[in-house]
Amino acid sequence: MPRRSALAWIALLAVPALHAHEYITTKITFAQEISRLFNKKCVTCHREGGSAPFALTTWEEARPWAKAIKEEVLERRMPPWSAVKGFGEFKGDMGLTMEEVKLIADWVEGGAPAGKDIYLPKAPKLADAKDPGAPRGAVEIAVTGATSLAAPARILAIRPKKLDRGASVQVIATRPDGSIEPLIWINNHQPGFTRTYHLAKPLSLPAGTRIETAPPGAGAFALYKAAAPKPIVKPAE
Ligand code: HEC
Repeated sequence: MPRRSALAWIALLAVPALHAHEYITTKITFAQEISRLFNKKCVTCHREGGSAPFALTTWEEARPWAKAIKEEVLERRMPPWSAVKGFGEFKGDMGLTMEEVKLIADWVEGGAPAGKDIYLPKAPKLADAKDPGAPRGAVEIAVTGATSLAAPARILAIRPKKLDRGASVQVIATRPDGSIEPLIWINNHQPGFTRTYHLAKPLSLPAGTRIETAPPGAGAFALYKAAAPKPIVKPAE
């Protein structure tokens, strides 16, 4: 057996000690920042009785998932909100901002520390994050390839109808005067999480507006417009 120098032995012994636990290299903690962010964007599904298969309501629950959490948020698979920020504006936007993604990634990279319990927020009131479906009474306009509006329309919501898994597709409206309105940009489409995106404010588009996808013909969408007001029928005299 070859003789090892004292230094080599020390190096060998030091290795397992280094891996025994991860070093904490961040000031971001679950108790302060991460719990609040998870409460806002994750725990409607990731909780006891929620639609997700595991909870993220405590550090003990979240810690084993740290690596997966970082990956999912960087890949924009979680939370399952596929509309890219800044391209249209939607009600109940669940998407993470760049800062929020970085906060989570930095926390995980830094050893995912718990922090002190006294800083934990109060338990949030939870409503299930569900697909809201079509707005009540709305009329569907199918968008496949380029579609032209035959009549003026007040657009209320939009929903991917047929898109490939992982697809990144924009839907853009061009008014007859040439002005452009971004409707939605679905990035990294996850068919299992397809939902209807309700516009923050209704968008009025004139007749002759062209609606198309980029890349062209990349998928099918449904636009929902407000139903035309019912004509007032005068009683017969
Ligand atoms: C609308 C409900 C919903 C929301 C909101 C949500 N998730 Fe999920 N999540 C799920 C479901 C359902 C799964 C199960 C896997 C699947 O079906 O894709 C999952 C799976 C995961 C996984 C496991 C992925 C794997 O490795 O299999 C991680 C990690 C995760 N979510 C993290 C998060 C984080 C972090 C947030 C908030 C920033 C979040 N989720 C928000 C529903 C949700």
